[in-house]
Amino acid sequence: MQRILIEVMTMLYTVCIVIGSDTASGQISTCECCSSSHCPLTVEQCSVNLDCECLWVTMSERPMCADTVVSCQDLVPCEIDNKTCTEPSSVCVNNSRCSIPVCFPIDRASSQRCPPWTTKNSVTRTDNYVLGWLNTNSIRFARYYHTASILSDGRVLIAGGFGSNGPLNSAELYDPSTELWITTGTMSVARYMHTASILADGKVLVVGGFGPMGSLNSAELYNPSTGTWTKTGSMCVARYSHTTSILNNGKILVGGGFDAGGYLQSAELYDPSSELWTNTGNMNIARSLHRACILTNGKVLVAGGSDSSGYLNSAELYDPSTGVWTKTGSMNFARHFHTASILTNGKVLVAGGFSSSGYLNSAELFDLSAGRWKITGSMSTARCYHTASILTNGRVLIAGGYNYSGYVNSVELYDLSTELWIKSDSMSNPRYSHTASILINGKVLVAAGYGDTGYLSSAELYA
Ligand SMILES: *[C@@H]1O[C@H](CO)[C@@H](O)[C@H](O)[C@H]1NC(C)=O
Ligand SMILES: *[C@@H]1O[C@H](CO)[C@@H](O)[C@H](O)[C@H]1NC(C)=O
Ligand SMILES: *[C@@H]1O[C@H](CO)[C@@H](O)[C@H](O)[C@H]1NC(C)=O
Repeated sequence: MQRILIEVMTMLYTVCIVIGSDTASGQISTCECCSSSHCPLTVEQCSVNLDCECLWVTMSERPMCADTVVSCQDLVPCEIDNKTCTEPSSVCVNNSRCSIPVCFPIDRASSQRCPPWTTKNSVTRTDNYVLGWLNTNSIRFARYYHTASILSDGRVLIAGGFGSNGPLNSAELYDPSTELWITTGTMSVARYMHTASILADGKVLVVGGFGPMGSLNSAELYNPSTGTWTKTGSMCVARYSHTTSILNNGKILVGGGFDAGGYLQSAELYDPSSELWTNTGNMNIARSLHRACILTNGKVLVAGGSDSSGYLNSAELYDPSTGVWTKTGSMNFARHFHTASILTNGKVLVAGGFSSSGYLNSAELFDLSAGRWKITGSMSTARCYHTASILTNGRVLIAGGYNYSGYVNSVELYDLSTELWIKSDSMSNPRYSHTASILINGKVLVAAGYGDTGYLSSAELYA
């Protein structure tokens, strides 16, 4: 019975191709864009709705234009022949987005949802819409509070962190082409809650953090061509849970954090040519666990964090030309352990975090020209110590974190144009204090962190 239904649908579908697109509701829309048995990563627009893209229908061996804002996880696998579905009103599709052929609801392929793209000039899109997580190889040493840096050759350097034996000095490299991890040179000092920045010459500068003897003022440079670390100038003040920002003039700004004496107001600049640190203006407010972003005008925005009086909603701007910090508009909500991301439209999105009212799902946008924060759509899941990554399509991917229910595996996408959050495929492992890196192939690598089983070595790719 089901097989007959599918065959009838397949025939119906074939007929639609012959008679061309019909905008009657319920009609399956078609497209000519994807002609191979598995859709390429670069697809041509098949509808005026940009969320629609071509999926390969394995039974009819034809492409279908469907709304793909759905996670692979919410779709059931096809029968073992990879052609049929017992799910009602669905067809088996194969697409490089989901790892296996899945049953796709045909109402998502209606010409109402995906009105045909009428003009002849097809637009090549490189972003991915049916998004899902795939496991990739695990890192060698489970850890959290580590850093991840994308080297200029596309490899990802994981450095330091905290594992089952305490602070780590080990570092590992992930090669996106082989998906393999190798160990590389070890740092001279084990550290976690440090920062890592890529310098203009491709070296990675690791700064401060907490080591076996307490907070650190030391800094080290990783040379990707030799795979070794060398000591460089030490900061004036030891600190951890600070922020680092790469200024347009190539210097590295470090601000705030903790040391043995408490919350820090001081900021310092690292000059890569002399390898020395100098003090720059103090922030107006001492803060730790804050976040920093480089704005389109070259100034640095720091927002939130905490100090001895509690959680902060204040924000300030650093002007690299004067070395002075000035207060700007305050966030609507005080928070620390949040994320701050510079969007493709130049605004800054702050999401989640923790404050006296608990774990936050709220998000706000900073508009540089107005110097003000505005509340935007809230995430469905409250979380802190999550990650935020800007995808090639401009959307912001928020992954994992921690809240009252424990470790979070949920993933949400922020859409700039609607200011709304879209629920996406969840990671297979709940985790917080992991890292998320945008690979040169556009995929997002999430690595390590802490979850239900303790320190994590697992890694996942969002593609
Ligand atoms: C169905 O697809 C899966 C994953 O792509 C593959 O491993 C399996 O061999 C396929 N089975 C058939 C009968 O083609
Ligand atoms: C599905 O697509 C994958 C590549 O994405 C391909 O290797 C596989 O053979 C396809 N399976 C079927 C049943 O078409
Ligand atoms: C906490 O996270 C879980 C997912 O891990 C989610 O189901 C729950 O709704 C979250 N709690 C709040 C208050 O958002």
